[in-house]
Amino acid sequence: MKSKWERSEAMLARSRKSLAGGVSSPFRAKAPVPLFFQDGKGAHLWDVDGNEYIDYQLAWGPMILGYSNPNIAARVREAAGKPLSYGSQHELEIVVAEKIQSMVPCAERVAFTSSGSETIQLAHRLARAFTGRPLILKFEGHYHGWMDGALHSYKPREEETGPLERPCAVAGSRGQVANSVENVVVSPWNRLDLLRDILGRHEGEIAAIFLEPVLCNSGCLMPEPGYLQGVRELAARHGCLLVFDEVITGFRINPGGAQKHFGVTPDLATFGKAVGGGVPLSVIAGRADIMEQMFHGGVVFGGTFNGNPLSLAGAAACLEELDKDGGAALRHANRMGEALMEGIREHARRLGIALRVTGFGAAFYPHFTELERLRDYRDTLADDREMLQRFLRAALEEGVQLVPDGRLYVSAAHTGEDIAETVTRLGRALERAAG
Ligand SMILES: Cc1ncc(COP(=O)(O)O)c(C=O)c1O
Repeated sequence: MKSKWERSEAMLARSRKSLAGGVSSPFRAKAPVPLFFQDGKGAHLWDVDGNEYIDYQLAWGPMILGYSNPNIAARVREAAGKPLSYGSQHELEIVVAEKIQSMVPCAERVAFTSSGSETIQLAHRLARAFTGRPLILKFEGHYHGWMDGALHSYKPREEETGPLERPCAVAGSRGQVANSVENVVVSPWNRLDLLRDILGRHEGEIAAIFLEPVLCNSGCLMPEPGYLQGVRELAARHGCLLVFDEVITGFRINPGGAQKHFGVTPDLATFGKAVGGGVPLSVIAGRADIMEQMFHGGVVFGGTFNGNPLSLAGAAACLEELDKDGGAALRHANRMGEALMEGIREHARRLGIALRVTGFGAAFYPHFTELERLRDYRDTLADDREMLQRFLRAALEEGVQLVPDGRLYVSAAHTGEDIAETVTRLGRALERAAG
């Protein structure tokens, strides 16, 4: 039988002869079929074979206003008619920094980079310089980019994890600096008692606690009630900085990020993905006394493309739209997502499939698991990964694209009709995956 992805498959074969691996990020090679696309509008994408998809990948998160948003396109087009970069100052830097300041509680100062991984590198450096302490505490299953200092205990195998009260720091990549694990302490997520013990064992050594305020990278696990407040208090008591990695939650769960949503203000926060609505831009924001170390405190930071006009034009348009009408766009995205979460749960109940859907409306995850309660990374190890793979493939065949790790992102461009149609298609995909 002829494949419905004949052209994509041929293009991948061709691509592999010039582009390493045939794709621009190894994470993308994990898709059930690495597709080539030719266009997109709103919540819909068209691949090179002419197949249409209702999309929940959102390009791994940035397309919070949907594809081909006319306001972003117009602003970027206008910026493209002028110098693409100055390597000096221009007014849009102030406009976007002021906008972020007005939206994000911790943003006394803002700095721009091109990727989330860079912002994390800078946050590590600022935290160590500010406190004079050597160690970073991070949580098991949390992802903070692919740099040597940050890629630890992201997806450790069960046999590598060590005891729950004292998790091992596990390097994430071959070729990573060999002693990078010595600079990191790992804690289980959502356990204040264990975090308290770990901080006590490393008194005076931990510069900062880094976390994804919703554990989006290991199955969208929400913080338990009061957990983030508890971490905030522990950080203050032990003299550590608190850093929220809001690369996913930022400009998605709420226009002011998870810090606004949960009412907990970190010392520093990193943003990426949705902040630009599709243009490459990342942001670090936080306390002035910590941030100003780049200028008066000997902390080195650079980046040829930092604050470039094209990225900031996209971000200015995106943030205006997200901030409009008291955040109506994100309220809509989250409402649509909650309806989809519930629709998937109903199909699973009807079909007798053990499924837990966790997260918030605009970013969530289907866990094929018997566990009633999913609290941390280790709980997700019980997920039925083969079932997930069958579900992802069946969804793609039905014309619904998810993130290859199983996550779904919902944008402000998804309509009630898109959601209703997706619920029907994913019902069929679940049936096929189970059968
Ligand atoms: C929470 C989190 N932090 C950092 C990063 C790294 O961002 P980037 O891929 O832009 O380097 C990601 C990327 O997915 C992320 O999800």
